[in-house]
Amino acid sequence: MVDEITVLPVSDVDLGAIAALEAEAFDGGWSREAWAEQLDSPRTDVLVARAAGEVVGVIALSGVAEVVDLDRVIVRPDHQRSGLGRRLVDAGLAWAGETGAERVLLEVAEANAPARALYEDRGFRVIGRRAHYYGAGEDALVMEVNP
Ligand SMILES: CC(C)(COP(=O)(O)OP(=O)(O)OC[C@H]1O[C@@H](n2cnc3c(N)ncnc32)[C@H](O)[C@@H]1OP(=O)(O)O)[C@@H](O)C(=O)NCCC(=O)NCCS
Repeated sequence: MVDEITVLPVSDVDLGAIAALEAEAFDGGWSREAWAEQLDSPRTDVLVARAAGEVVGVIALSGVAEVVDLDRVIVRPDHQRSGLGRRLVDAGLAWAGETGAERVLLEVAEANAPARALYEDRGFRVIGRRAHYYGAGEDALVMEVNP
């Protein structure tokens, strides 16, 4: 179903598609401008999955020295549960490994069972908790893996 996963150079067209994907699949609050900022930062990368030319998945990572943060992974609802999230995380971990990172960290909402299951599936373990990180009573779990 998904023909390739590519490393995406900054482009207005792609930014629009990524922002639209986020709006459809994840009410996480990153606007097109926030995605543009992410792409502008040094040591940041965004990997995009395309099917028939359309953006159906995205992962965003950023890193300094030995630590890379996994900032975002989103799969379009009609492509979920087909292994694409796993492929994106694996591609992101490979990117992190290539940059020399020793640790990949992320925050995930405790209530986000699909994302937690995906991260656990790829070897992430819970190393901490941030109380009320996403608002009152909405804790984040901090997870880590060695790429
Ligand atoms: C989390 C998300 C990226 C998973 O993408 P996906 O392509 O559906 O995941 P995969 O098909 O690769 O699933 C890999 C494994 O993760 C786990 N998993 C994924 N979705 C799950 C779900 N809804 N319930 C339980 N486990 C799930 C399973 O272990 C699965 O393996 P399996 O299908 O062999 O059982 C997707 O649900 C999504 O985009 N959610 C909205 C955005 C979001 O919350 N992103 C994370 C925070 S930035």
